[in-house]
Amino acid sequence: MIRVAIDGPAGVGKSSTAKSLAKYFGYAYLDTGAMYRACAWWCMKQGIDLDAETIDERIVTETVGEFFTGDHFDISVDPSAPKVYADGEDISEAIRSSEVSSHVSKVSNVIPVRNVLIAAQRAYIAREASADSFSEGLGIVAEGRDITTVVAPDAEVRVLLTAREEVRQARRTGQAVKGVGVEDVAARDKADSKVTSFMTAADGVTTIDNSDMDFEHTLDVLIGLVEEAI
Ligand code: C5P
Repeated sequence: MIRVAIDGPAGVGKSSTAKSLAKYFGYAYLDTGAMYRACAWWCMKQGIDLDAETIDERIVTETVGEFFTGDHFDISVDPSAPKVYADGEDISEAIRSSEVSSHVSKVSNVIPVRNVLIAAQRAYIAREASADSFSEGLGIVAEGRDITTVVAPDAEVRVLLTAREEVRQARRTGQAVKGVGVEDVAARDKADSKVTSFMTAADGVTTIDNSDMDFEHTLDVLIGLVEEAI
């Protein structure tokens, strides 16, 4: 089984390239950012205060714990239909709202929350090696901020996908046309950098700077890295 770990900052195109890479090889696809976004969405829905000044990390941890242990959360690892559910409701679009984007770092900065999600992510990755897997043991592409370093540091392929800040901001602003909302990617990266290290590659991690590459080119480079590992 091949595990592909991809980390990188906001707006670099991780999700779309990771999804296409998984489809190309028939692997499962795990969007760990979607898991943090679902937690923020759930907390907001429960009326939990996520204001930086007044946030109660204990309450956020309890709320996220209940989301997972109470079986409210579900995610599909099929790269052709990567959906996220809360109590059976498809929240895949709702978790991309600008409200969620601007609050997600408050939730992902809470260390006990990270521990719950890291354990869940490792379980999804381990499941791909079992008979219960989506990809029948072929592999999984997992993307986020701490996959190459914390969640799966022993992955067969480890990549840091990055691009210059102005390029990433322009890509995100372009997506805003589709209703995702304009956001300050640098501000989110700064907040996320407090607890995860994704701006420079860890030892053994291949950096791909796609500032001057289009989508197909980035995908080709990733396909080449996976083929080398197979
Ligand atoms: O990848 P995406 O931009 O959807 O991630 C949303 C947020 O989830 C990030 O800004 C970060 O706060 C959090 N995240 C994280 N660790 C990961 C993946 C995402 O903290 N592995």
